[in-house]
Formats: sequence, C-alpha cells, structure tokens
Amino acid sequence: MTYKAPKGTHDILPEESAGWQRLEATVRSVMDRFGYDEIRTPLFEETTLFARSVGETSDIVKKEMYTFTDKKGRSLTLRPEGTAPVVRAFVEHHLGRGRDLTKLYYLGPMFRYERPQAGRFRQFHQFGAEAIGSADPAVDVDVILLFTRILEEAGLGASSVALNSVGDAACRPRHVAAIREALAPRRDALCPDCVERLERNPLRILDCKVPACRELAAAIPSAIDFLCDACRAHEGAVEEGLAAAGIWFRIDKSLVRGIDYYTRTAFEIHHGALGAQNALGGGGRYDGLAAELGGPPTPGIGFAAGIERILSVVDKPTAHRPPVVVILSNDADGEVVARRLLYKIRTVARAEHFGGEGHVTKKFRRANEAGARFAVILFKDEIEEVRKGILTVKDLSAGLQDQEKQRKRQEDEFLNELRALVKREG
Ligand code: HAM
Repeated sequence: MTYKAPKGTHDILPEESAGWQRLEATVRSVMDRFGYDEIRTPLFEETTLFARSVGETSDIVKKEMYTFTDKKGRSLTLRPEGTAPVVRAFVEHHLGRGRDLTKLYYLGPMFRYERPQAGRFRQFHQFGAEAIGSADPAVDVDVILLFTRILEEAGLGASSVALNSVGDAACRPRHVAAIREALAPRRDALCPDCVERLERNPLRILDCKVPACRELAAAIPSAIDFLCDACRAHEGAVEEGLAAAGIWFRIDKSLVRGIDYYTRTAFEIHHGALGAQNALGGGGRYDGLAAELGGPPTPGIGFAAGIERILSVVDKPTAHRPPVVVILSNDADGEVVARRLLYKIRTVARAEHFGGEGHVTKKFRRANEAGARFAVILFKDEIEEVRKGILTVKDLSAGLQDQEKQRKRQEDEFLNELRALVKREG
C-alpha cells in the first residue's frame, strides 16, 4: 500500500522551496514598506462566518467548503479565503481602536473543494492585505499599488489591472431588478443553482461556471451602469488615482467577484501566460462586512493573490544552494576536531564535513563537485594546527589545480571573511 498526497493538494518539494521563500520574502518586504503588519488567523473557523460573509449562494459556500463537525457537534470549516477571518479578528480584538486605518497582511494555505486543473487546487496558498477603517478612494488606489508593487518586485512585468465597481446597498437593488427582468424569460435555460440564485441572489449568476449560464450572464446588465452618484464619484476617484500613479488599467464591466461582501471597487490582476480564467489575484471593497460580522460599521478594502499561480509564471531561482565551506578529513583523530570546527563555521556560513576514510584527491574532487567555495584541509598533519586555531584553507573558485590558492589562515580572520562573503553573496 502506497500513499499519494490527496487530490488537489501538492507537496512543495525542496527544489521548489527557494522560489517560495523568495516570493514570501518579497511579500513581507513590500508589505512592511507599505505599513502593513502580519496577522495569522486559524486554519478553521465557525462555518457560519463564511456563510454570512462570502454568501450562502456563492459557489464557495454552496460547493467548495471543507466543512466538518467536531466532537462537540460544532460546524467548522477550513478557511476558503482570508478576508472574513481577518475582519472577524479585527472585530473580536478591537484592532481598530485608536487609529483611523488598520493595515493587515497574511500569507498561508486556503482550502476549496474545486475540480483540480491547471492553476486550481484544493489546498492552495494566498498572500493578501486588508486595509480596514477608511472609505477614502485613495486607500483603494494604495491597495492596488501595493499589489502591483509586489508583482513587480516578484519579477512579473506583464500583468494588467482590470477594474470595476459593483455598487453598494443604495444602487444594488436597481441592478438586481434589471438582472431579474432580463433573465426571467430565460429561466428554463439556467442550471438549477442559478434558478435558485434568480430568486435569492441574482448577482451570483454572473459567476456560475456552467456554460449555458455563462452565455446568458454575458448579456445581462452590468453593475457599473446602475451606480448611484456616490458610487460613481468613488469609482471616478479610483480611476484618477491609478492614472496619476502611472498604473495601466482597464475598466472591465463584466468583472464580478464570486463573493457577496464586495461593495464599490472590485479588481483583478491577470497575466497573459495564465489565460482569462485564472487571475493572479483580486480584491475589492467590503464596506458592510464588519457590521455584518457584528462589529461597528467599518469600511474596508483588500486583495489576495494565489502564490502557486504567481510562481508558475516567474523564473525559478537555483534550488540547492551549495556549501560555502567543506571540511575535508580522513583520519579518525581528526573527526572530533572537524565536527567542532564545523559547528563553529555554521554560525556564519553553509558548511559540510566530508570525513571518514578516503583518498585526499577524491575528497578534493568531491568538494569541488559540491560547488564549495573553500575547502578546509584537516588531514593527519593539520589536526594540531586546527586545535590551535590555524586553518589550512584552499580557495576552490579557481578549480583544484591552482596551488597558490592554498593558505594558512587564522580561524577568526577566516570566519570574518566568510561572514562578509555571505552578507555580500548570500
Ligand atoms: P479570490 O478571488 O477568491 O479572492 O481569490 C484570490 C486569488 O486566490 C485568486 O485570484 C487565485 O489566484 C487564488 N485562488 C483562488 N482559488 C484558488 C484555487 N482553487 N487554486 C489556486 N489558487 C486559487 C479572495 O479570496 C478574497 N478574499 C480576496 C480579497 C481580499 N478581497 C478583499 N480582500
């Protein structure tokens, strides 16, 4: 009996880790410069948190949640997204107390029971940001700039921002009425879920994946054509702000996000290599969410991006990083000395010990093949010197032949040199 990772999940293998770490470091660095602090919420929450925020009629809640009952009969759900948990934590811990704007970011796994395909998994990873406390369109612009800056620094040049407004509680009823009016005569052509949506939440018909519904949805009126004055002014200010910042964007009237909490600004960022179906990430405003979750009415806006999708379109860094130093020994008396020295060198640099029996030439060859920059020679003749802090070091950067490159070095001085080298070159 052998096992495989569950369908829709994947191991992040050692050779992939360098790419993940580099992207995560970029995310943390840019978030820090934009003034966002990290928040880590549990991987599961009460099921009703998502039902109330993401929406009972959304695909996520209807079909994609990993929901289970715990031993006390509570219904819990593996988080399918990060915004509801973050706003739940914001309300629960009064994170907005004493400040106008609370800026939070997160990074971690999300779970959706989706049909696995390219760029779509059941456990996937997001990074995201939420700016909670301001209705100012300047914050929308700042959040979009945060996202584009991360993509830029991650090495993704050719990505494009699609922008739309989905209106708010004031203008949505007119839009909903128009959708009902347009689709009522075509009711029979809709899938059973969408027939229910037509009653309960016609907006969600816009993100149905059934081809017949998609075709009908393409022809129905867009939210942006029904905006009230306040929403229109907000939308205009976001457009102006993005243009002033030199960000290339396009208005996409058909952009709907498959989640109920959105109000006003909605956006997605796409990349040519992924196709129209798979966004790198998306987000928008959710001015009613904090109140919906029992907190004081507090506007907010944020985004989340799929890490797997980003990594699939950026260049991969070198996976395995070679040791900087290899200690070579082949004498039983030298083993303990070598181990002690190894432990010390590892305070500053990647180091390995090639000990045990073996011919000197073979050991040098192995060090060279491992890609080490320096070999510390610790054969029988060197043991006493190493005990006294004098090392015989061969610089392997010029290959094995160059005898000039072998020198006696004071241990402290060598460690300092390594420290500087690692700082410079990593
Ligand atoms: P979302 O559009 O559902 O938004 O997900 C954001 C991103 O997560 C997607 O654009 C995609 O890159 C990635 N993603 C989603 N599902 C999968 C999947 N099954 N496999 C791989 N990647 C996936 C949200 O989650 C909102 N919470 C974003 C947000 C934050 N809105 C406001 N603040």
